[in-house]
Amino acid sequence: MIGFIGGTGPEGRGLSLRFAMAGEDVLVGSRDAGRAVEAASKVARRKVSGKVSGALNVEVARRADLVFVTVPYEGQRAALEALRGHLAGKVVVDAVAPVRFEGGAARAVAVASGSAAQEAQALLPESNVVAAFQTVSARDLLNPTVSIDSDVVVCADDAHAKRRVMALAETIRGVRAVDGGGLANARYVEGVTALLLNVNRIYKARAAIKIVGI
Ligand SMILES: NC(=O)c1ccc[n+]([C@@H]2O[C@H](COP(=O)([O-])OP(=O)(O)OC[C@H]3O[C@@H](n4cnc5c(N)ncnc54)[C@H](OP(=O)(O)O)[C@@H]3O)[C@@H](O)[C@H]2O)c1
Repeated sequence: MIGFIGGTGPEGRGLSLRFAMAGEDVLVGSRDAGRAVEAASKVARRKVSGKVSGALNVEVARRADLVFVTVPYEGQRAALEALRGHLAGKVVVDAVAPVRFEGGAARAVAVASGSAAQEAQALLPESNVVAAFQTVSARDLLNPTVSIDSDVVVCADDAHAKRRVMALAETIRGVRAVDGGGLANARYVEGVTALLLNVNRIYKARAAIKIVGI
């Protein structure tokens, strides 16, 4: 089962929808059980073949075997510290992009560990953290008729965990998974997210990344 810590926001719901459409069972997590159930039922009402349910984040960490982190960067440290024990031995996919807005422009937030994903790995030493999906727009994910038509760069130190997440990413229509190397490379993907947000604002578009030449 795939779980989402902070699954009630657009990114968590969007990925939940796409994976449930691909037949995966999904557990949408929240700090509030009512919000989790409400978000899960919204996803379950769409044309999905997987089972979608909602639960507190702690239940998600306990029950899911692959756990996504889709909270804002500001909430990541406290959320993961509280769930460390339940996440031990699991693959944790960090979709967090540390970005803040200043005068309408997106700015990457400097993270002492190098990236949100590396910080997550430091907080979860017994989990295998994989960085992925930071550049995929929630609005596109939430519209099931849209083909995502983008690369998802997957960075991880554990080869097995990386292969698993790359295969999962490619269950989303239009996605090509690209091996981005080790977790230390997550900083570049997180930085590109700030760039895409600024490009979106300039072009009034929803830009995505595609790597050519491979
Ligand atoms: N939105 C996008 O298009 C997009 C695209 C790529 C990547 N991302 C990344 O994905 C993550 C989620 O994005 P989002 O737009 O879905 O974010 P969001 O709506 O701001 O937050 C997602 C959920 O996180 C929980 N949350 C909020 N503050 C929290 C805190 N301080 N501690 C613990 N949980 C907290 C909330 O759930 P409850 O209140 O129910 O607990 C909220 O519904 C972000 O890190 C973002 O950088 C977003």
